[in-house]
Amino acid sequence: MTLKATVVLLLIVVALVLLATIAADDGNNQTLEGCRSDCGGVRVPYPFGIGNSSSVPHKSCFLQSSFELTCPNSTLYWGNIKVLDIKISQAKVDMSIPISRICRDGHYYRGVSIDIPSFTISSEDNKFVSVGCDTYGYLHSSYKDDDNATYSTGCITRCYGSSMEVEDGHCSGIGCCQVDIPPKMRMTFVKSFSFYNFSQTWRFNNCSYSFVVKKENYTFYREHLRNLPFEEFPVVFDWSVGDETREASRKRGTSYACKGNTTRNDSVPTGYGYICQCNKGFEGNPYHPLGCIDIDECKTGQHSCVSDHNCHNTNGFYTCFCPKGQSGNGTKEDGCHKKNFLPHIVIGTSAGFIAIFVGTCLLYLAHQKKKLIKLKEKFFEQNGGHILVQQGEESSHVKIFTADKLKKATNNYDEKLIIGRGGYGTVFKGVLENNTIVAIKKSKIVDPGQVMQFINEVIVVSKINHRNVVKLLGCCLETEVPLLVYEFVSNGTLFDFIHNEKKRNHFNWKNRLRIAAEAAGALSYLHSSASIPIVHRDVKSANILLDEDYTAKVSDFGTSRFVPLDQTALATMVQGTFGYLDPEYMQTSQLTEKSDVYSFGVVLAELLTGKKPLLLGKLKEKTNISIYFLSCLEENCLFETLQDGILNEENKQEIVEVANITAKCLRLKGEERPSMKEVAMELEGIRRMSKHQWVNNGDKNFEETQHLLPISSSSKGYEYGDSSSSSSHQNINYDSIIRDQEGAIALADGR
Ligand SMILES: *[C@@H]1O[C@H](CO)[C@@H](O)[C@H](O)[C@H]1NC(C)=O
Ligand SMILES: *[C@@H]1O[C@H](CO)[C@@H](O)[C@H](O)[C@H]1NC(C)=O
Ligand SMILES: *[C@@H]1O[C@H](CO)[C@@H](O)[C@H](O)[C@H]1NC(C)=O
Ligand SMILES: *[C@@H]1O[C@H](CO)[C@@H](O)[C@H](O)[C@H]1NC(C)=O
Ligand SMILES: *[C@@H]1O[C@H](CO)[C@@H](O)[C@H](O)[C@H]1NC(C)=O
Ligand SMILES: *[C@@H]1O[C@H](CO)[C@@H](O)[C@H](O)[C@H]1NC(C)=O
Ligand SMILES: *[C@@H]1O[C@H](CO)[C@@H](O)[C@H](O)[C@H]1NC(C)=O
Ligand SMILES: *[C@@H]1O[C@H](CO)[C@@H](O)[C@H](O)[C@H]1NC(C)=O
Ligand SMILES: *[C@@H]1O[C@H](CO)[C@@H](O)[C@H](O)[C@H]1NC(C)=O
Ligand SMILES: *[C@@H]1O[C@H](CO)[C@@H](O)[C@H](O)[C@H]1NC(C)=O
Repeated sequence: MTLKATVVLLLIVVALVLLATIAADDGNNQTLEGCRSDCGGVRVPYPFGIGNSSSVPHKSCFLQSSFELTCPNSTLYWGNIKVLDIKISQAKVDMSIPISRICRDGHYYRGVSIDIPSFTISSEDNKFVSVGCDTYGYLHSSYKDDDNATYSTGCITRCYGSSMEVEDGHCSGIGCCQVDIPPKMRMTFVKSFSFYNFSQTWRFNNCSYSFVVKKENYTFYREHLRNLPFEEFPVVFDWSVGDETREASRKRGTSYACKGNTTRNDSVPTGYGYICQCNKGFEGNPYHPLGCIDIDECKTGQHSCVSDHNCHNTNGFYTCFCPKGQSGNGTKEDGCHKKNFLPHIVIGTSAGFIAIFVGTCLLYLAHQKKKLIKLKEKFFEQNGGHILVQQGEESSHVKIFTADKLKKATNNYDEKLIIGRGGYGTVFKGVLENNTIVAIKKSKIVDPGQVMQFINEVIVVSKINHRNVVKLLGCCLETEVPLLVYEFVSNGTLFDFIHNEKKRNHFNWKNRLRIAAEAAGALSYLHSSASIPIVHRDVKSANILLDEDYTAKVSDFGTSRFVPLDQTALATMVQGTFGYLDPEYMQTSQLTEKSDVYSFGVVLAELLTGKKPLLLGKLKEKTNISIYFLSCLEENCLFETLQDGILNEENKQEIVEVANITAKCLRLKGEERPSMKEVAMELEGIRRMSKHQWVNNGDKNFEETQHLLPISSSSKGYEYGDSSSSSSHQNINYDSIIRDQEGAIALADGR
């Protein structure tokens, strides 16, 4: 910083300090024209005044007689009371009031009476004090309202014996007592008394003193009991103008003493008349004919502008502004900033930019929407939507869902709703608008070359209406990968029931046999009774779902292939699940219905032994369950391999028969295996026999079993499950289940 700058800065600071120290005009200097403004160093502002105006004839210098002052010997008097200070803006006057006293020798002074309505002792500025040890004093006041109310207050102080107890500097009640002064007290009189004519205190105290005194202007000393060295004390009075009560002056419509730029204030401490106050931003003497004048905030530093130069005074207030070339509102908080553009250019260009931006956004959104619709159409086409539509009648029962609906149903494919994952894709649980719970399968990308086949599959599968096959409800082709919507099956998979120890406990032979029969019936139906034979290709316990009644439902046709009527084998890529795969199919890639038969044999072996299809052998080698099972049969150790809890005295024969069917299914050569139809019929036969055998209590057992089966379905590893959709099966009894099975078989026969 250069020296010059420092000097300039200093000058500015000095100027500011000088400006700030100029006292605001409190109106105390303003007297009427031709009147004395001062008496013995005390200023005499209007409405107070001394005598008549020297320049205006017959004009008194005071507003009303109660404000008339005199100035003999350069001492200002109000009547016979000395005036010390007059404050206009606060409406107060300090006067010197003689002390009231009484002494043992008979001397006394009764004090003064100031009984003028517009002068009251200021409650906030004074206190009442009595000094003495045989003393009581009181302040008497009257209030000239309609019923001449009067009030008194005061205090007592008595102290006989040792006066040494009294403490200097503290008017604590011993030798000196003090009380606050109530509001609106006019000093009618102050009196001081003694109780016993100082007969007990005369050695140290011959007088009682009582007085009103401005706070802080009297400090008690022990010495004062002997002799109080004061004749009078300053007392602060509130004053107001107007002789009468507010009500009376209103009634008479008295013109107010308040002049220009002022406000009349009726809530005054005296309770009489009113006072006048300068409006905000104005100063001066509100009673003086000139009225109040504007405060120049800019010159007196009472502004919040960045500098005095950025301040513009207005009538009653001020405004701030910024120098040319800067923007802002010029206040200290906001400040001024350099402008970069002219405001209108800024506004113009920003409006233009906003318009362009909004326009672009709208166009973009419209384009995106169009694009999305086109994309949906493209996917629909790609996924064979048109083929489906062309099918007309054929496909009328395939419901086509929109992408939006399914998105909503799955809560935008919420991860939490995933109920299965597999080689084929992902399965979500979804709730449609009509509250139907469905399983939505997001398939893996479909080979464009197989669109036709895919659509046919959809049509055929959706036509399958078998109580032991999971029903396909519809599909959605608007997405990149087609979505298939299935009925929802609630209770998990057969795999889960066999291998989960908690569930297995109650999974008895009767139920195993029934589920095996149901699954066999479903597969038989797929193989023979549907319009085009369907090879499931992935038969496994994890693909046999159980609904709430533990009815089997064969699911997952993700790898299914149709076998054209003129062919019995189909060369395809080997697909399926290890452990269940037909060894012949693995070698030849020739897919036949018998591949499913083999896989079903593995499921039967699983049901019997409770072992997983791939076993860890003795040498930690993986062994196939079929090898294990067949070798056991040969070694005649079938009953030892059974899962715990299956075998009992009654079902030995049935188990042996089922084991035999299993062995047949697991034959290496497909030709030698029975057909699914035969398997289903044999299982059904075993079941029926068992039912007839136990006809009296079979139903009961079944029901008990139903109850014993756990309801929980929080299992993993199944294709999908966990719902309560197929409630229609709830009341089906044992007989009707068999009838259903028979129906399916009869249909198969009819083909
Ligand atoms: C009031 O008058 C006294 C002397 O009469 C003067 O010194 C003082 O500056 C004046 N005050 C104002 C605010 O004008
Ligand atoms: C002031 O004027 C009034 C008449 O207006 C007169 O009666 C009074 O005596 C005068 N007072 C003085 C002190 O001159
Ligand atoms: C004024 O002062 C003189 C001498 O100081 C005194 O004699 C006179 O009585 C005083 N007048 C009043 C009214 O106090
Ligand atoms: C109040 O006092 C005045 C005079 O002291 C008297 O004329 C008036 O009648 C009194 N009013 C009441 C209500 O006592
Ligand atoms: C108080 O006592 C003194 C001295 O004994 C006596 O002169 C005076 O008259 C007494 N005053 C009263 C009011 O009794
Ligand atoms: C009180 O007055 C008596 C005579 O009346 C006198 O002897 C005594 O000293 C006085 N006490 C004080 C403290 O002045
Ligand atoms: C009253 O007290 C104030 C402040 O303590 C002091 O300035 C003033 O001189 C005192 N007045 C009297 C008459 O003692
Ligand atoms: C009126 O005057 C009283 C006492 O001075 C004050 O407390 C009050 O705020 C004033 N009222 C207004 C509206 O200024
Ligand atoms: C109020 O104050 C302004 C500025 O000080 C002044 O010009 C105006 O005359 C005043 N109004 C009255 C009625 O006195
Ligand atoms: C100026 O800016 C300050 C701070 O942002 C704000 O408090 C004030 O109201 C503004 N004044 C005007 C006149 O806009």
